Amino acid sequence: MAKRVLTTESGAPVADNQNSATAGVGGPILLQDQHLLEKLARFNRERIPERVVHARGSGAYGYFEVTDDVTGFTSADFLSSVGKRTETFLRFSTVADSLGGADAVRDPRGFALKFYTDEGNYDLVGNNTPVFFIKDPIKFPDFIHSQKRDPFTGKQEPDNVWDFWAHAPEATHQVTWLMGDRGIPASYRHMNGYGSHTYQWTNAEGEAFFVKYHFKTNQGVRSLSADQAAELVGKDANSHQTDLLQAIERGVNPSWTLHVQVMPAAEAADYRFNPFDLTKVWPHSDYPLQRVGRLVLDRNPDNVFAEVEQAAFSPNNFVPGIGPSPDKMLQGRLFAYADAHRYRLGVNHTHLPVNAPRTAVVDNYGRDGLHATRNGSRHDKNYEPNSYAGPAQTDAALAAPLAIHGWTGTHEAPAHTKDDDFFQAGELFRLMSEDEKGRLVANIAGGLSQVTRDDVIEKNLAHFHAADADYGKRVEEAVRALRED
Ligand code: HEM
Repeated sequence: MAKRVLTTESGAPVADNQNSATAGVGGPILLQDQHLLEKLARFNRERIPERVVHARGSGAYGYFEVTDDVTGFTSADFLSSVGKRTETFLRFSTVADSLGGADAVRDPRGFALKFYTDEGNYDLVGNNTPVFFIKDPIKFPDFIHSQKRDPFTGKQEPDNVWDFWAHAPEATHQVTWLMGDRGIPASYRHMNGYGSHTYQWTNAEGEAFFVKYHFKTNQGVRSLSADQAAELVGKDANSHQTDLLQAIERGVNPSWTLHVQVMPAAEAADYRFNPFDLTKVWPHSDYPLQRVGRLVLDRNPDNVFAEVEQAAFSPNNFVPGIGPSPDKMLQGRLFAYADAHRYRLGVNHTHLPVNAPRTAVVDNYGRDGLHATRNGSRHDKNYEPNSYAGPAQTDAALAAPLAIHGWTGTHEAPAHTKDDDFFQAGELFRLMSEDEKGRLVANIAGGLSQVTRDDVIEKNLAHFHAADADYGKRVEEAVRALRED
């Protein structure tokens, strides 16, 4: 094999990579040492803005294989026949901490999945939790500020975390989930993934359905107790990354089985609570799980920065047959992600290999911008319509239309203003074993008892009381006991 030559960025050979050029043996460095200047300047520019949330993550490639016929519900081509396989890239993440945080912490986990379909990339950007803390995107920046590092102390503050929740009764369900046993997954392989939102599927006949996605781990759900997690973080802050990387390198490929809950669109209007409320699950007794296929991860990225840090997932990347529901949170996210990518990665982030479609052809009139690598051929026109056989719209509807009624305004869904924010939190509590209840209460009390303001504690206690009398009583007693210590 030919000996590899070290070069500058412009391809010229480098004569000395150990000694800078100086004026005389002991003299100052010369401005003409192009290799030194380029090396230092390039190094200064290695970091890009980290994701404003979900900064810390791990990714892997794999495939999705259809195992069951769902063509009655969606015309999406990648779901069109049993046995069909589509390449995927999945990025797992923690939410609140920055890139330098630890993996084994109590926090939801991101489950962002890109399907490289023949009809373009489909991004399903979910979490390991079926619900979320809030139901209106206008609260998201405040919510995240309260969970991330305090601007003065530079660390997460129980005062801020619980103050936000004191003002957000709708968070009680997700808080119960997060403080319970599943709040610290043992690894990324041992947790489920959820689309969380309601999405819309449309079949070839134009019939609409609302769906929720559930990816059930085939490794079994495994979690860590608060003590186990604290010990692990001390030993290996990168425990989830290590686990995923090593499992796939060993050929122990993790997999998940995808199920969906399907609601015929006509049933949404009269459902007993708002089916587009992200703080609630649909009971399986109303809409049972239906199996769709299998997701397998079988290849680690070659370069973490290029493929994981630069990966861009956006909930607005749909394919024909799949579209958004009126879930307000989802609607907010349809804007937020591509905007974040333009800031974090630039307007041409879709040209990067991890984000570019694999088999689908990109052909449009978008042009130029920083770091454009995709150019048309010399005869392509950059405007439309044109007389030169450039790409043209299909006129085929991508999803069934939604009927909309009412006046503009900043209102809650009128039919659902009386929806109870607490009953599903209570149901989750009552489902738990005695041991689980004990750990849940201890986890909540451990955090809540550190809050300095009594009124914030009282408001949070009221939420647990409203969810379930026994739940509220136990949390209250545990908090009081810890504060008296
Ligand atoms: C990442 C915004 C709610 C899951 C992000 C990013 C933004 C964002 C700006 C960083 C994107 C990037 O730089 O690449 C929002 C807003 C929300 C919201 C405004 C509410 C209105 C949610 C919900 C889920 C979720 C409900 C899950 C169901 C994720 C995941 C990532 C992420 C998994 C990381 C994606 C990756 O691995 O690159 N979010 N988010 N987010 N969000 Fe959200």
